[in-house]
Amino acid sequence: MKAAINIRTDDLISKVDDRLFGSFIEHLGRAVYGGIYDPGHPDADGEGFRQDVIDLVKALNVPVVRYPGGNFVSGYKWEDGTGDKSKRPRRMELAWNSIETNQVGIDEFQSWAKKAGTAVMMAVNLGTRGPAEARDLLEYCNGTTDTYHANLRRQNGFEQPFGIRLWCLGNEMDGPWQMGHKTAYEYGRTACETGKLMKWTDPSVELVACGSSFIGMPTFGEWERTVLRECYDQIDYISLHSYYGNQNNDTPDFFSRALEMDTFIKTVAGICDEIKAEKHHPKTVNLSFDEWNVWFHSHGTQVEPWSVAPPILEDVYTLEDAVLVGSLLITLLNNCDRVKIACLAQLVNVIAPIMTETGGRAWAQTIFWPFLLTSNNGRGTALKTENVCGTYDAASRKAVPFVDSAAVLSEDGETVSLFVVNRSMDEACTPDVTLDGYRPVEQLSVEGDDLKAVNTADAPDTVVPVVRDITDGIVMPPHSWSFIRFAKV
Ligand code: AHR
Repeated sequence: MKAAINIRTDDLISKVDDRLFGSFIEHLGRAVYGGIYDPGHPDADGEGFRQDVIDLVKALNVPVVRYPGGNFVSGYKWEDGTGDKSKRPRRMELAWNSIETNQVGIDEFQSWAKKAGTAVMMAVNLGTRGPAEARDLLEYCNGTTDTYHANLRRQNGFEQPFGIRLWCLGNEMDGPWQMGHKTAYEYGRTACETGKLMKWTDPSVELVACGSSFIGMPTFGEWERTVLRECYDQIDYISLHSYYGNQNNDTPDFFSRALEMDTFIKTVAGICDEIKAEKHHPKTVNLSFDEWNVWFHSHGTQVEPWSVAPPILEDVYTLEDAVLVGSLLITLLNNCDRVKIACLAQLVNVIAPIMTETGGRAWAQTIFWPFLLTSNNGRGTALKTENVCGTYDAASRKAVPFVDSAAVLSEDGETVSLFVVNRSMDEACTPDVTLDGYRPVEQLSVEGDDLKAVNTADAPDTVVPVVRDITDGIVMPPHSWSFIRFAKV
C-alpha cells in the first residue's frame, strides 16, 4: 500500500507541553500496595518503595502523576494519609469495595514522586467533602505560613512545602457511580467556591475542573457548558476521560477509536471557546485528558470484597492494544494546541503499562513501548502532517484513514520524530515522506503477526519494539505502530 506523508517544519501545531505524557496512580487494587509500595520486597527501599518499579517508571519519563484517584478520591480523608503510620485508620473504601490501610498517603506519595522523578497532580475530594477540606489539604502541602495545617506538615517531618502545582477539583462528578455525584450546576458551584479558596490559599496553583467521564455520557456537552459557566474564572483546564475496548473482537473498528478521541477533544475545545466568547473572557481554558487508555480485558472479574489490595482491573495488554495506544498518542500530539495535560490511566498493575508480582517480578506490558517511545521522543514542537492514503469503513464509522501520523521537531531543530500507525489488517505500507532538510535514520516498530500476543512475567519480551532496516526505505507492517527518527542533513 502506498501513502504519502507531507511535513513542513514551518507548519506548526504548538509546542508540546511535557505534561502530555503524564500518568495516574489511584488507591485501587494493587497499584499502590503490591505495586509501587511493597515493604517486604527485596528491591524495596527504606520507605517500602520498589526500586525496580521506579526504574520502569523512570524509563517512561513521566512528568506528572495524578493521585490519589479516580473514584477513590471522592470518599478520601486526606488526613488519614499523614503522620504516624501506626495510628492511621483502616477504612472501608466504597469506590472499589476494598479495605484501605492508609500505610501510603499524601506524605509518602510525594516522596515516591521525587524518587521517580515526577510531579504530583493532586485531586481533592469534592464528593463526600468540599471547599474547606480542599483548602486545608492545599495548605498542608504548599503552605509557608505559621498556621495549623502548614505546621502539621512540619510536625510530620516535612519542613519544606511539597510545592504541588496542579490540582483536580474532584473526579468524574457527572457519574452516578461517583460518591457525592452532582448535577452540573451543583458541581459547577462547588468547583467555583473550592477554586476560589484554593487560589486565595496559593495563587500559583493550576486547577482542573471535571468534564465528562466519556463522550457517551447523556449529559455530555451540557455538562461542560454549565460547569464552565459557573467556574470559568477559577479554573485553568477542564478534564476529559476515555477508555477504549475491543469487546467485539473487531480490530479495524477498535483501531478507528482514535478518531472518536479526536472528536471528543475538538468538541470540548469548541465548548470552552463558546463559553469564553459568551463571557467575553480573556482567558482560554485548555484541556486535561487526565484518564485515557485501553480498558476492557478485566471487565467482569470478581474479587473478594473488603480485602486489602485485591487484584482488580489487571488488564493484560495485547499487541493490538499497543497499536491503539500508539495511535491515541498520535491524536493527543495532533491536538497539543489544546490538550496540555494527559494521563495514561494508570501506571502500575491497574490498567497499566507496568505489571508486578507482589513480592516478585516486574515487567513491561505491550502498551509500555509506544508510550515510552513517544514520551522520550515526542518533546518539542508538534508539526502538522498531511496523510495521503486510502480509507476503510469500520463498523462504527466510515472513511477511516489507513495511516495516521504525528511529527515533533526537537527543541534544537536537529531531529524530527515521526509517529505513524498503519491500520491495515493485511497490507504493509511504504510511505513517501516529504520532509525537506531531514533524512530518516532510525525506525522502531511495534509489530507482529499475532495481534493477541502479550507480555508476561515468564515471557516479558514477546512484544517489544523491532528495529527495522530502512536502507531501502520505510516499511510499516500491517497493523503496526512506528517511531521514525529523522536527522537534519
Ligand atoms: O481508572 C479507573 C477508574 O476509571 C477511575 O477511578 C475513574 O475515575 C474512572 O471511571
